[in-house]
Amino acid sequence: SDDDSGGEEYLFKIVIIGDSAVGKSNLLSRYARNEFNPHSKATIGVEFQTQSMGIDGKEVKAQIWDTAGQERFRAVTSAYYRGAVGALIVYDISRRTTFDSVGRWLDELKMHSDTTVARMLVGNKCDLGTIRDVSVEEGKALAEQHDLFFMETSALDSTNVKKAFELVIREIY
Ligand code: GTP
Ligand code: MG
Repeated sequence: SDDDSGGEEYLFKIVIIGDSAVGKSNLLSRYARNEFNPHSKATIGVEFQTQSMGIDGKEVKAQIWDTAGQERFRAVTSAYYRGAVGALIVYDISRRTTFDSVGRWLDELKMHSDTTVARMLVGNKCDLGTIRDVSVEEGKALAEQHDLFFMETSALDSTNVKKAFELVIREIY
């Protein structure tokens, strides 16, 4: 904000990770700008958005980073994770391979993070219930196994998008 009144301000870095096309960029655009792009292109490099929310009368800002799921489009990995205190690990409930990759993303996060990271497992595209490939129970079980928060979301119809980001931000705060 432009508030120079001397009130305390917090800025947290949150990263979004997961396989290509699970909907990372659309989760971010839905949360930060209330926008959804049905024809979004694969992310190349790194993008970020800053989003504010009020907690206990304080302004809390989250700088949310989004990168390519595709290896060949990813920027220097260690720089992406540096300083992150929150992470959303995203899979697509209609594509099991993306769920099978979660362990690999958690390993990478662990390898590159230097502090405790508030972590949320996100099963995105829950609007695609008719072609679901991963059950809610499996998502919950994996989250429990790795001590993660869990939520199913839809960037398309907005289900739980705000909730997922704000739960992570609150947890950090
Ligand atoms: P990379 O940048 O390659 O890592 O992909 P990404 O994870 O950022 O995926 P992106 O947000 O670009 O979305 C991929 C495709 O899935 C796009 O066609 C989106 O419109 C679509 N998509 C994203 N979120 C949802 C969702 O919640 N429901 C449905 N039905 N489609 C979605
Ligand atoms: Mg993307």
